Amino acid sequence: MSEVSERDGKKIKRTLEGENDAVHLHKLRKEFDDLVAVDDLDLGIERGILYGMIGPNGSGKTTTIKMLVGLLRPTSGKAYVLGEKVPIRDNISRIGYMPQDMAIYTDLTVHENLELFSELYRMDKKEFKRREKELLAVIDLSERKDSLVSQLSGGMKHRVSLACALIHDPEVVFLDEPTVGVDPELRVGFWNYFHDLKAKGKTVILTTHYMDEAVKCDIVGMMRSGRLIGEGTPNELMAATSTTDLESAFMTMARKVGT
Ligand SMILES: Nc1ncnc2c1ncn2[C@@H]1O[C@H](COP(=O)(O)OP(=O)(O)O)[C@@H](O)[C@H]1O
Ligand SMILES: [Mg+2]
Repeated sequence: MSEVSERDGKKIKRTLEGENDAVHLHKLRKEFDDLVAVDDLDLGIERGILYGMIGPNGSGKTTTIKMLVGLLRPTSGKAYVLGEKVPIRDNISRIGYMPQDMAIYTDLTVHENLELFSELYRMDKKEFKRREKELLAVIDLSERKDSLVSQLSGGMKHRVSLACALIHDPEVVFLDEPTVGVDPELRVGFWNYFHDLKAKGKTVILTTHYMDEAVKCDIVGMMRSGRLIGEGTPNELMAATSTTDLESAFMTMARKVGT
């Protein structure tokens, strides 16, 4: 069963039970000793949208994503990605993940890193060549294809990490702060690419500190202290708080819930 709703002029299909969503969380919780990093989080992310998670440092964004990609075991609750219960096994190559802290090999070249990821995902060689060319252009590193990653700047390494997450053309991609340290011009290029992915029916789930980026997402989830304190289209969130920017909307939501 599903319903189609119109939000800000965009048609958004939501599966009522959530089983067909890109992500579906039911009271997902993660404790580190006494600290509750993710606090019984309920969340549904439909397929084919750009979803932005925003919130201050320590609000549980990275921990949530790590549980979804199987790097952390939840303390309790349930999580489904593409309808499969986490930790997923069957759908692994349908998912891409760019960690907040870089996970590429500095003693390999850019090309070798991309090739390694393509092999992990058992990609066809011809398809790999095509994707590599496309992604190197997006990250503006075509000329540095054969450079050792250790010789690249921090921002360049970050861009390689993004390309590695996308090389196998995943259906759902989790990008943890993909644009940190990326210069403004290239950020625009990244965002155009995220919109291209969405146009191809992919689901892009990202975290960001930049409110000018959050506003470009279809749906924004506001996290604070491991909880979702607000969710909706940027316009809905601003209307609900009688504000004109997402930063103020966030502050108002945080005051309302008193955390
Ligand atoms: N491996 C860990 N061990 C202990 N505490 C952790 C660990 N990972 C994250 N935390 C804590 O969990 C909380 C949420 O962190 P995180 O998910 O990284 O937040 P965000 O990504 O929103 O900045 C923070 O208080 C952080 O210090
Ligand atoms: Mg984080």
